[in-house]
Amino acid sequence: MKAIRIYKFGPTEEVLQYEDIPTPKPGPEEMLVKVEAASLNRADLGLRSGSYRIAPADLPIIPGREFAGTIVSVGSAVQEYRVNQRVVAQPGLGGYAEFALAKADKTRPVPDGVESVVAAAMPTIFLTAWFALVQDAGMKASDLVLIQAGGSGVGIAAIQIAKHLGTRVITTAGTDDKCRRLHDLGADETINYTVKDFKKEVLQLTGGRGTDVVLEMVGGDVYTKSLEVLAPNGRLVSIGGAAGAGPTPDSLPTLTEGRKVSRFSITSLLSSHPEAFTQLDTFLGLVQQKKFQVVIGRTFPLAEARAAQRHLEGREHFGKVVLTI
Ligand SMILES: NC(=O)c1ccc[n+]([C@@H]2O[C@H](COP(=O)([O-])OP(=O)(O)OC[C@H]3O[C@@H](n4cnc5c(N)ncnc54)[C@H](OP(=O)(O)O)[C@@H]3O)[C@@H](O)[C@H]2O)c1
Repeated sequence: MKAIRIYKFGPTEEVLQYEDIPTPKPGPEEMLVKVEAASLNRADLGLRSGSYRIAPADLPIIPGREFAGTIVSVGSAVQEYRVNQRVVAQPGLGGYAEFALAKADKTRPVPDGVESVVAAAMPTIFLTAWFALVQDAGMKASDLVLIQAGGSGVGIAAIQIAKHLGTRVITTAGTDDKCRRLHDLGADETINYTVKDFKKEVLQLTGGRGTDVVLEMVGGDVYTKSLEVLAPNGRLVSIGGAAGAGPTPDSLPTLTEGRKVSRFSITSLLSSHPEAFTQLDTFLGLVQQKKFQVVIGRTFPLAEARAAQRHLEGREHFGKVVLTI
């Protein structure tokens, strides 16, 4: 089969090698899936540079944390799935390939009417946004929420989830066009942070009070300023740092008036609570009913995985970048 492999970590997409390798064979608890689409995530950029969860001893690896396609064979111990069933899976690795292995606990059936490109784009962004906002931040309908990097995959999922739950949403993005599109997706207020200071804008929009919840995924200075717009009893959940790390617990300013911060990882949550993956069914259903949108910014063929990662890294995208196979 054709696949992309990484033999050596490196700072650019040049480490991605497109090649012919043997098709994997499923063990008793695995399924072999003919991959139709595999989505890119920001974490793929860390993976190729060696900063995300993989040790040099584990190389070579096939990147691609999630994909959708059709089951072609099923291990003897798998009860829940059958050959020819359409599924979406999140094994963490292996998606940039014509065929990939999946285990039942990180696989869900894809409902009719939901295309593979759409299903492949969903697990990480919707599950991260849901558990970070609802479980970690305890978001409720009366809250006002600030979602940083609204045009990211996670941002677009978070805006729709927050609006679905009845909250008011302020979001940020780096261009006017992204801001316009985020309004169309339901955001109440958008701030182009390259033109306006988001801290000043949020405080102005909220009469100086700030927001009850912040979903933060940029890091560095954005993290620090996000803390400064947190209302009394507000909760900031940090999920990553596209622009740099957030402060360490020791260097955090003293939080007053019930403000709280936390750091959330969907990978850690799913490894301790694998049953949480079934939450994806709710979002697949909402997409099937056309109540939620999965925004696909651009697709690339598997052979052009390098160009796809370059596109993601360049920040021109809005929504998800997906490989089609
Ligand atoms: N903890 C978790 O469980 C978890 C799970 C998934 C993702 N994440 C994290 O959440 C963030 C979003 O992930 P994603 O896959 O949805 O990302 P994505 O689609 O690649 O979007 C990231 C966006 O961040 C914005 N951004 C602002 N400052 C940036 C900077 N200095 N460098 C790069 N981008 C910058 C960019 O939009 P503008 O140019 O419009 O600002 C960019 O489009 C990432 O930090 C990722 O690592 C965490």
